[in-house]
Amino acid sequence: MNRAIKFKLKNGKVVTIRRIRGTDYDAMMKFFDKFVRDPGVKYTSQYLGQPKKNKESCIKMYDNPNNLFLGAWDGDNLIGESTITKLAPDNPKYRGLTGETGSIILNKYTSQGLGGKLKTIIEKWARENGVHKLYAEVYHKNIRSLSNLLKHGYTIVGIKHDAAIIDKEWMHEYILEKILEK
Ligand SMILES: CC(C)(COP(=O)(O)OP(=O)(O)OC[C@H]1O[C@@H](n2cnc3c(N)ncnc32)[C@H](O)[C@@H]1OP(=O)(O)O)[C@@H](O)C(=O)NCCC(=O)NCCS
Repeated sequence: MNRAIKFKLKNGKVVTIRRIRGTDYDAMMKFFDKFVRDPGVKYTSQYLGQPKKNKESCIKMYDNPNNLFLGAWDGDNLIGESTITKLAPDNPKYRGLTGETGSIILNKYTSQGLGGKLKTIIEKWARENGVHKLYAEVYHKNIRSLSNLLKHGYTIVGIKHDAAIIDKEWMHEYILEKILEK
């Protein structure tokens, strides 16, 4: 994913999708700052008051060729991101064959096809970069994210019981995977 592409949301608005680089660190921090105040934050691991992510390690992570951080922009504002990180690429047993994925989009821009589009680009990158299996974890109450992943061919392969507490309620965490056939 080297060039920016335009994507039309179901409501007609056009957003730009491109790789997030180290130089986008400030835009990413601004995005997280908005997201922790957004209703969509509820069933994610992000939270209001979370510590600011370390600049140096973020830059390394964004610019690492074993990862793809994809951003969706409305003008100059980052409004969504989707990531894939190869797990243990230097370990000769794991070899980065599993790619952990996740997406967050500001509420105003959800259910407009953007999550699906980002997943398609992430999957293309994964296939082209030797990833064998996509991996995601989702709280059991996150129906929108679960339907989005199931629609894109992920399967629920496991469950972590009592993984977190949200509004005094235990959250189970589903483990979802998608094997990428050759
Ligand atoms: C989860 C998320 C990335 C999905 O992206 P999205 O842009 O909203 O999803 P899309 O519009 O591409 O929808 C794709 C499919 O997801 C499902 N979906 C979308 N919105 C839904 C909703 N409100 N309720 C149930 N299913 C829904 C549908 O199956 C939809 O298929 P359709 O296009 O045929 O209707 C996005 O909603 C989001 O960022 N939510 C907040 C943060 C979050 O929960 N992230 C995941 C943490 S693990």
